[in-house]
Parts: sequence; structure tokens; C-alpha cells
Amino acid sequence: MLQQLSQLEQEALAALADATSAEAVHTVRVRFLGRRGKLTSLLKAMGQLPAEQRPEVGRLTNEVKVRLEEEVSRRLKAIEEEALTEALLTGPVDVTLPGRRPPLGHLHPLTQVLEEIIAIFTSLNFTVAEGPEIETDWYCFEALNMPKDHPARDMQDTFYVADEVVLRTHTSSVQIRVMEHHPPPVRVISPGKVYRCDADITHSPMFHQVEGLLVDEPGRVTFGDLKGVLELFAHRMFGPETAVRFRPSFFPYTEPSAEVDIQCVGCRGGGCRLCKGSGWLEILGSGMVDPNVFAAVGYDPESVVGFAFGMGVERIAMLKYGIDDIRLFFENDARFLAQF
Ligand code: DAH
Repeated sequence: MLQQLSQLEQEALAALADATSAEAVHTVRVRFLGRRGKLTSLLKAMGQLPAEQRPEVGRLTNEVKVRLEEEVSRRLKAIEEEALTEALLTGPVDVTLPGRRPPLGHLHPLTQVLEEIIAIFTSLNFTVAEGPEIETDWYCFEALNMPKDHPARDMQDTFYVADEVVLRTHTSSVQIRVMEHHPPPVRVISPGKVYRCDADITHSPMFHQVEGLLVDEPGRVTFGDLKGVLELFAHRMFGPETAVRFRPSFFPYTEPSAEVDIQCVGCRGGGCRLCKGSGWLEILGSGMVDPNVFAAVGYDPESVVGFAFGMGVERIAMLKYGIDDIRLFFENDARFLAQF
């Protein structure tokens, strides 16, 4: 009987090896392991064996059964895998072709430059403050020492939303909001969108500025600190070899005021079309905060001193990368954007 058993196992294994489809495997399974299959009949015949042989033969028969069931599963799995490989290799899809990479985007060049500006000032312990783009006349002009009839208002072509409501023309408005809510000392920068009714190759009706404000006790802030901070900024942004100069200027909210120029990035100071022959490029406005501004926010002008500055992000980016048309930033032409 044991011989019969091992013969049966060999027979079944051979039949399974020959089976090349799932149906064929199932047929073999039924033939050997089914209710009327060969192994089952053999088990039934066990009754005729002497009682002392039965346990041993029973155990061996069961082992054969388990091995055959395992082989059935293995064959079914192998057949399924073969079919899948076959389908992938001969089907309409060529799985051996390299895939097409989806194009990877990156930050907009203006966002990159803005983040660089922010990183430079946060490394000097400035924190970031933001304010609304739709602003009242008070925050945009009045509190910045620009009364209603002040000629300096003409410097900024303003979009009016209503009588006393404007699209902010500069982020200097955030200075006022910060000082209204925080007692000195103050050390903030305010990045954000600003709006002016102006459009040509260097002006866009919407652009970005970063404002800076530092206020502390008298004696702790001087014009020298303003120079140091802005020189450091220019050197980090445009390279340490870039010459920087401070030129007297006027802003209603600072006294004295200065515009900051860097040595022309186009000609390194010799004079070219970019700098209109002067060798210098203006990058920002700045000055010592006017006492009238401190009074407007409720600070005592006698007990605080501060400096402020404001720069256009597009202008910085254009000078840094040699871009001559501001509209390129907003047209979303991927050929332009992909270069950054
Ligand atoms: N608000 C000025 C502008 O939009 C820039 C500016 C100049 C800001 C001098 C300042 C400053 O804080 O002190 O052109």
C-alpha cells in the first residue's frame, strides 16, 4: 500500500507539471484529491489493513495530500504569473520602455528672490509682519506724514477703491499697523503686493515690495546702523564686491532720507545703457523715521529713534538676473520661468 501511495504521488506530480492551464490543474486536482479521487479511494481501502498499520499509513497518506495541495497552489500561481508576463510582453503596452518623467516645477523667480530677501533680514533678527492690500488713506498716506494735499502723494499713482480706501501703493503702511499694536523696540520687515496705476517695461500695476522698520531707544539706533544693515543686504544679494552708495533723497516719512544705489551690474560702474551711463543703479529708499510718524502711532517722538527702508522685489530680481522687461514675470511663459 505504501508503494501504491508513493506511485500515486509521483503520478500526480507529473500530471501537475504537465498542466499548463488553471483548468488543467483543477482537473488533476479532482482526479487525485477529489471526493472520488484516487487518493481518497486509497484512504478508503485502508480499512482492510491490519489495525496496527493503520495509523502509520494514515499519517503518510495525509502528508501526501498536504504536499499535493501545496503543489496545486504553486502551479496555479506560476500559471497566473506566466500569463501576466506574457500579456505584458505581447500586449499593446511595452513595459520595457523607459517612463516619461512628469516635468517638475519650481518656485517662481520672484518667490525665490523674495525668500532670499526675507532670509537675509531674518538672519539679522527681523521678523515678518504682513498687512492688508486694501488699505485706508490713514495707513497708506496720512499716518506716514502725507496729508491730503501733500504733493508727495503724486509720486504714487493710486488706485482708489472708495473715497478713503485705496489699493496700497507701498508696504510702508504696515509700519503704521505694527507700531500701533506693538510698543518699541520694533524690528520687522513687511513683504507683500502693492498697486500703482502705471504700466510699461519696468512698471507693473501690481508688484511686490519689502518694507523694513527698526525702532529702539535714542542712542541705540543711528544712521550708521541703517547704512550697515543695507550695505550688508546689498552685498549678500549682489555679491560682496558690489559697491554701495547712499544718495540724499526725500520721503515724507523719513528725515534724513537716502536712496541706496549699487554699482551697475551691467558694466561694473563704467557706464552703460542699463545705468544710463551713470555706473549706478538705485535699489531702494530709506531714512530715519520722521518724528511725525511716531506721533501718529502714539509713540513719544522724544524717546524713540528708528530707521526704515523699502524696496521693490521685481526691481531687485531684474537687476540680479539681468531681466529688462517686468512683464516677463507675470506672463507665465514656461520658457522664461524654467531658467530660474
Ligand atoms: N515707500 C517707498 C516707495 O514705495 C519706499 C520707501 C522709501 C520706504 C523710504 C521707506 C523709506 O520705509 O524710509 O517707493
